[in-house]
Amino acid sequence: MYKEIVRPILNKFDSETFHELARESLHFAELSPLTLKLVELFTDKHKRFTDPRLRTHIGGVEFENPLIVGAGWDKAGRAVAGLWHLGFAGVEVGSVLEYPQPGNPKPRLHMVSNGTAINWLGFNSPGVDVVKHNLSKYKSHPARIGISIGMNKDVAHDDSPRAHAVIAEELSEDADYFAINISSPNTPGLRKLQEKGRTIDIVHAVKEAMERGGFSRPVFIKIAPDLTYEAVDDIIGVALEHSIAGIIASNSTINTGIKAKYGDKWRNSQGGLSGDDVDYRKMTTDIIAHIYRQAGDKLDIVGVGGVHDTESALEKIMAGAKALQLVTAIRGEGSTVAGKINRGIVEFMEKEKVDNLNELVGVSSNS
Ligand SMILES: Cc1cc2nc3c(=O)[nH]c(=O)nc-3n(C[C@H](O)[C@H](O)[C@H](O)COP(=O)(O)O)c2cc1C
Repeated sequence: MYKEIVRPILNKFDSETFHELARESLHFAELSPLTLKLVELFTDKHKRFTDPRLRTHIGGVEFENPLIVGAGWDKAGRAVAGLWHLGFAGVEVGSVLEYPQPGNPKPRLHMVSNGTAINWLGFNSPGVDVVKHNLSKYKSHPARIGISIGMNKDVAHDDSPRAHAVIAEELSEDADYFAINISSPNTPGLRKLQEKGRTIDIVHAVKEAMERGGFSRPVFIKIAPDLTYEAVDDIIGVALEHSIAGIIASNSTINTGIKAKYGDKWRNSQGGLSGDDVDYRKMTTDIIAHIYRQAGDKLDIVGVGGVHDTESALEKIMAGAKALQLVTAIRGEGSTVAGKINRGIVEFMEKEKVDNLNELVGVSSNS
């Protein structure tokens, strides 16, 4: 029904307006336990799907299933419980910035096909204080909360370690893990932070900030899919040397050839492409397999990029990802997406006589 009736209507709205409507509907459902339970009517079998065989660990944190809502869907932490009731094990909130930033002028989020988006939001964030306030209501909630750390656009690069550390300091209490996002394409120069020396400085500052507050949370680095494998190897080296828990691979792509598939006007447009594009999906899966081959079990990989059904989820798990994130597919596939994927993974495990999701991780990384 979603794809036949609801999505064609929603396609008439500005994409960001639709997104805000969906997020705020979930937010208002959090008003009472009863309305939250009603959210489950929108899952595939009208009940949140759960199965102990889907349990996974990243950075030592247990997730009830491998599906996390990726950064960008709930930038301010307003709908964590609602998303959990749709079947996700957690939400990566953010990217969170030190102080409020409106982002780029609208329109800045475009569905270029039913399952594929190009966005140049430019880090819109209400700032860390508002996010902290929003997250306070989830203290005893079973949903895992990751915090994606971003940086205001006018922060000088020399000041970037401090700007990242502020978020870690403020939100350590609320976070199950942190993701350092140095890979968004929409803040000029941000991806330069992926250079080895700068990444190390940011990682140290974030860890020190946590320690000052008496916390120890796993830290992940989120990379761009457009890096050369040499640059990916640099990040793997930094991660291994500096006790990083793992790598989130990856952010949206600025690849002009892939963007141009949706019309020549997108070729040199600003913004990154995400979602169900076969080339983008392959690009991100190949990076996961590369990281897995290089680092094996020493780094936990979170796979992101075009996951939208059981097949695309399994593809990334078998390439080496222990957990997955989805953003664009929540729009493309609708509210049933997490339940369908989790159920499909369990069916696959039963067919293959696999008892534990971990047994599938990395099995195709060499193919
Ligand atoms: C509208 C939108 C906003 C996003 N905002 C962020 C962000 O703030 N921080 C971040 O690390 N990634 C952000 N992303 C990237 C996603 O987290 C994800 O890496 C990318 O969309 C690929 O996943 P997907 O194919 O499931 O959408 C955003 C993506 C979209 C579509």
